[in-house]
Amino acid sequence: MTDTPINVLLFGAGGRMGRHLFRIISGEGHRCLEVEARQDPDVRGALDEHLLKASMVIDFSSPEGTTLLLERLLVRPVPCVIGTTGLTAAHHEALDVLAERVPLICASNFSVGLNLLLSLTAQAAGALAPESFDVEIVEAHHRHKKDAPSGSAQVLVASVETGRASSAGRASSAGRARKPDPVLFHGPGMTDGRPTGSIGVAAVRGGDVVGEHTVFFLGDGERIELSHRATDRVIFANGAWRAAMWLLGQQPGRYTMKNVLGL
Ligand SMILES: NC(=O)c1ccc[n+]([C@@H]2O[C@H](COP(=O)([O-])OP(=O)(O)OC[C@H]3O[C@@H](n4cnc5c(N)ncnc54)[C@H](OP(=O)(O)O)[C@@H]3O)[C@@H](O)[C@H]2O)c1
Repeated sequence: MTDTPINVLLFGAGGRMGRHLFRIISGEGHRCLEVEARQDPDVRGALDEHLLKASMVIDFSSPEGTTLLLERLLVRPVPCVIGTTGLTAAHHEALDVLAERVPLICASNFSVGLNLLLSLTAQAAGALAPESFDVEIVEAHHRHKKDAPSGSAQVLVASVETGRASSAGRASSAGRARKPDPVLFHGPGMTDGRPTGSIGVAAVRGGDVVGEHTVFFLGDGERIELSHRATDRVIFANGAWRAAMWLLGQQPGRYTMKNVLGL
């Protein structure tokens, strides 16, 4: 946290998330530096100029936008919060290199509730045997979302795998090691059965749905559903700003929302 006004380079400031962040950041008396990337013929020059003055970078743009931003950040490192989803392995490699020089957080979902859902999912997956409980993850988002399945659905898959691995680790000392489970991405129509232990993911797109994720643990005669529903995008902006304030003063490295929220 800082009471002293800082300069924040807000990349994607004109978008749905960017507008929320602009209000939060300027409302607290800090200064937003914006880049009109589409209009500015010298976007690299504009980014470099802002990076010299910025104490923090917040990015909610697009994978192409993040590519450009990371290229400049690797030349002029500044602590950063990356919220753009649909990033590739190349983005994550660049983030790993950048994290050797500055503290950063890249998260597909900055809400407190979704991050709690990740922990609860790992806990449930560790307690429910994959031979007895099929796992299906269903996510829904607005019609404009470009990537599918959502980054949060993919992190939920990782939480299921983490929970199962920790329980398999305990069980393997009793002689029951497990192989990683296949992940099924369901498109339109239905699947032809499902292998035991697989994790299904389905995406729904339409209307103005802000973001919903449900993890089903489906057994014979009973089921558990863990759900998170975002009804206002401002929760992501608040979480991203909380992460930015937390990052100030941290050592270089890659952090997660678990670190920020102390989960
Ligand atoms: N991590 C989270 O918690 C979270 C939550 C919500 C959304 N998101 C993600 O955040 C990103 C933005 O979401 P949104 O709903 O705000 O999208 P949006 O309304 O489409 O806004 C994106 C903004 O980024 C700018 N932009 C896109 N590509 C660019 C590029 N190559 N160079 C420079 N600027 C570029 C756009 O400029 P133009 O208008 O000129 O195209 C626009 O201002 C998406 O990846 C979304 O999935 C993450």
